[in-house]
Amino acid sequence: MPQSFDYLVLGGGIAGLSFALEASRYGSVAVLTKRTRAEGNTNYAQGGIAAVLAKDDSFEAHIEDTLIAGAGLCKREAVEVTVREGPARLKELVAWGAEFDRRNSGEFDLTREGGHTRRRVVHAGDITGSEVQRAMIHACDERPSIASFPDASAIDLILDRNAVRGKQRCLGAYVLMPDGKIETFLGRITVLATGGAGKVYLYTSNPDVATGDGVAMAYRAGATIANMEFYQFHPTCLFHPEAKNFLISEALRGEGGRLKLRNGQSFMERYHPMGALAPRDVVARAIDTEMKRTGDEHVLLDMTHLGKAFVMERFPNIYTTCKQFGIDMAVQPIPVVPAAHYQCGGVQTDLLGHTTVNGLYAVGEVACTGLHGANRLASNSLLEGLVFGHRAAKSASEEVKAGVAAPAAPPEWDPGSAVESDESVLVSHNWEEIRRLMWNYVGIVRSGKRLMRARRRLDLLREEIREYYWRFKVTRDVIELRNIADVAHLIVECATRRKESRGLHYTLDYPNLDDHNWLHDPVVSKEP
Ligand code: SIN
Repeated sequence: MPQSFDYLVLGGGIAGLSFALEASRYGSVAVLTKRTRAEGNTNYAQGGIAAVLAKDDSFEAHIEDTLIAGAGLCKREAVEVTVREGPARLKELVAWGAEFDRRNSGEFDLTREGGHTRRRVVHAGDITGSEVQRAMIHACDERPSIASFPDASAIDLILDRNAVRGKQRCLGAYVLMPDGKIETFLGRITVLATGGAGKVYLYTSNPDVATGDGVAMAYRAGATIANMEFYQFHPTCLFHPEAKNFLISEALRGEGGRLKLRNGQSFMERYHPMGALAPRDVVARAIDTEMKRTGDEHVLLDMTHLGKAFVMERFPNIYTTCKQFGIDMAVQPIPVVPAAHYQCGGVQTDLLGHTTVNGLYAVGEVACTGLHGANRLASNSLLEGLVFGHRAAKSASEEVKAGVAAPAAPPEWDPGSAVESDESVLVSHNWEEIRRLMWNYVGIVRSGKRLMRARRRLDLLREEIREYYWRFKVTRDVIELRNIADVAHLIVECATRRKESRGLHYTLDYPNLDDHNWLHDPVVSKEP
């Protein structure tokens, strides 16, 4: 028997829960997460939430900083609503119980990050995301109309196949449950809040769940996908053989941290007037260039001049984690490298979270609302999740009120003649191969030749994965492999089309901006 809800939310980070909390006022909500309820990119966000709160700040300044970072591709209306509605949403988050650092006066302690011309980032020490996640999960627990399903991996969206082509409606999703069974979840409205896809690259700040599931499912369902070439590389992740995915927050540079080469020379002044606080694409590319020039495996982030007491108090989580790896950041610089961090493109939506498929919304990192353009400004993403989760829920509730019938039960999942896999090595091998080829050929610096190589290999890998997917019983690993393969394909596709360098997309073949031809989003969609 299918499980039926008014609102089916796939993903439980800040955007999904912002949607769920608002939608729960109007109907029943199911929130599905692939692992625990908290596991996802939100939980690991260190820096904070950008919002205009300081007396010396203004909406115009935040809008301007966002537009500059976005390198000509932000949609101004998306920036305006995010920035202007941000403070109200933040207030709501505080009312749900999120606690942020404050000064003695009671005002928020605002920090600064790259590309911001003001201090405007609200934070909870250096573990902002986990505090946000904690408060929002707690708020959900107090709403009886929200049901949570951890360990539930959506496989594919279900479309109403009887509808006229182009008018198809999303009815819900097939979901792999913890007991290995595949269940049908239906929603009058289905919401993708599945986060990003950092695991498509070999090195990433993202947790293992970030496999681009929402983009891949939406693509297979025929939704329009945009701007996937703009994958943001965070300039500073911890470089240590045993450290996996550990971010060294941009807030360290916001508080005065200096980027240096291994010989002690600082170098960012040669690349941008804002130095180490230049927008992320500039800093990541500068580090990449310096590493290639010197042959070093990393650069250094030096906090030693700021004093032990300050460093330990302001960055307790980063201090302790580095210490576990034998690095005392109060007295020695931290070895850092860039790593894949944030997907700026995604499932294209309007300002209310509608995708191009009826009944399907997308919010948060999975969505391409137009806020980030070609490069996201630091700490705008948690803000976007809050604002667009709320906006989408309002719109979805109007849609339901206007009369969306509960979906009639579609066919149950059909396993066909699939058998248990006898060759799981294909999954691990292809997983590794995709992530490595994406890192080497579709990373910070690209070229037509590298993209072509990536495309050829990906075509073969996708074919193999498709065959494996149909022959063998579905497992979580196969679902994720299929998804990273589709997302990798979309990144290569979008990167190949853009014949210029802009924001996060830099190609040796076209190293300059070309506003005449490329001031628009290349979009991709697949016929369902
Ligand atoms: C960071 O703390 O540097 C990450 C913040 C962000 O990605 O917005």
